[in-house]
Amino acid sequence: MARVLVTGGAGFIGSHVATTLLERGDEVRVLDCLHPQVHGGGGRPGYLSPGAELVVGDVRDPECLRKALDGVDEVVHLTARVGVGQSMYEIAEYTSVNAVGTAVLLEALLDHPVARLVVASSMSVYGEGLYVDADGAPCASAERTRAQLERGAWEPTGPDGQALTPVPTPETKPVSLSSVYALGKFDQERLCLLFGAAYHVPTVALRFFNVYGPDQALSNPYTGVLAIFASRLLNGRSPLIFEDGEQRRDFVSVHDVARACALALRADAAAGEVVNVGSGESVSVNEIAARLARILGVEGLEPEVTGQYRVGDIRHCFADVTRAKALLGYEPDVALDAGLAELAAWLEGQVAVDQVDAATAQLRERGLTV
Ligand SMILES: NC(=O)c1ccc[n+]([C@@H]2O[C@H](COP(=O)([O-])OP(=O)(O)OC[C@H]3O[C@@H](n4cnc5c(N)ncnc54)[C@H](O)[C@@H]3O)[C@@H](O)[C@H]2O)c1
Repeated sequence: MARVLVTGGAGFIGSHVATTLLERGDEVRVLDCLHPQVHGGGGRPGYLSPGAELVVGDVRDPECLRKALDGVDEVVHLTARVGVGQSMYEIAEYTSVNAVGTAVLLEALLDHPVARLVVASSMSVYGEGLYVDADGAPCASAERTRAQLERGAWEPTGPDGQALTPVPTPETKPVSLSSVYALGKFDQERLCLLFGAAYHVPTVALRFFNVYGPDQALSNPYTGVLAIFASRLLNGRSPLIFEDGEQRRDFVSVHDVARACALALRADAAAGEVVNVGSGESVSVNEIAARLARILGVEGLEPEVTGQYRVGDIRHCFADVTRAKALLGYEPDVALDAGLAELAAWLEGQVAVDQVDAATAQLRERGLTV
């Protein structure tokens, strides 16, 4: 039995991590400021397991951290402002919470050493996923230029314009930081691994892919694409799809992600490593919109393919989970259709305020979407 602090533990993923740890017999304390964008100004969320102790406070407040760390042996650091588009104009806030917040936590850990640290990183650090050329050789620079996006040429090409094929992305793919959010996640990951190495704290950075499942903040327009689509569909509106909808992602159930966090706290072989946490499968955004509409029984609402793009968006990225299997003993357990059915069952009775138009307008005003 360990006493674990889960920062950001009142959020979507954190609450599932708390439940998973409690189920295996750990004690759990959560530190969370209950940010209004995520929690709508409410108090302790109903979905947070009653067994988890909640300390309400800001991760950047050293006094609050001191209280939260009292009696704790292990930390799962999930606190972050989460939203690629929003990070491009709330630059100071994202950098403050994500990068500086992590630095303040690590300074607090100097006074209160722990035996284990797990930090949430993100697939966003890769930028584009891995691509190979016609000969199967990896392509080092498959980035898209703004001029290319303005022409609606969505697929990345090689340096000489050659066609490329996306393949599962391993942790060895060099990072490419194309948003303030991605930069902040990389800061969080590097700060924790560097701290772990310097102070002999076994530390694992988990790069989550697109996480979905019950308790996602539906009304937060900066949340994951599945929650955004669901809140549109539940409000009788078509999902809005950027580019042509053929971009591929890896949707992983929050239950698998929570299990990966719990495994990482015990996995000696993973200390000092970054590890992808995905489903290992890829699906296009068009496909996921159609499958969700079918499961919600709202098939009349065809997705609206806008042909617009957002600065910082990538074309394809899905996980190679070989390392997670080898180092954590992780196996993705929840198949996409089963996960979507669970999401749909939870969605029944949820009130989602659709704020996607307002969020898209914010990006457009700033020239971040075309
Ligand atoms: N959801 C995904 O698809 C996904 C993908 C990759 C990585 N991640 C990472 O996983 C972690 C959890 O994400 P999530 O989807 O559960 O997000 P979330 O927004 O639901 O949870 C984050 C929690 O952090 C809290 N928080 C925000 N600022 C804080 C502050 N200054 N002090 C204390 N608490 C604060 C919020 O109130 C919220 O409860 C984040 O680090 C995120 O970057 C998420």
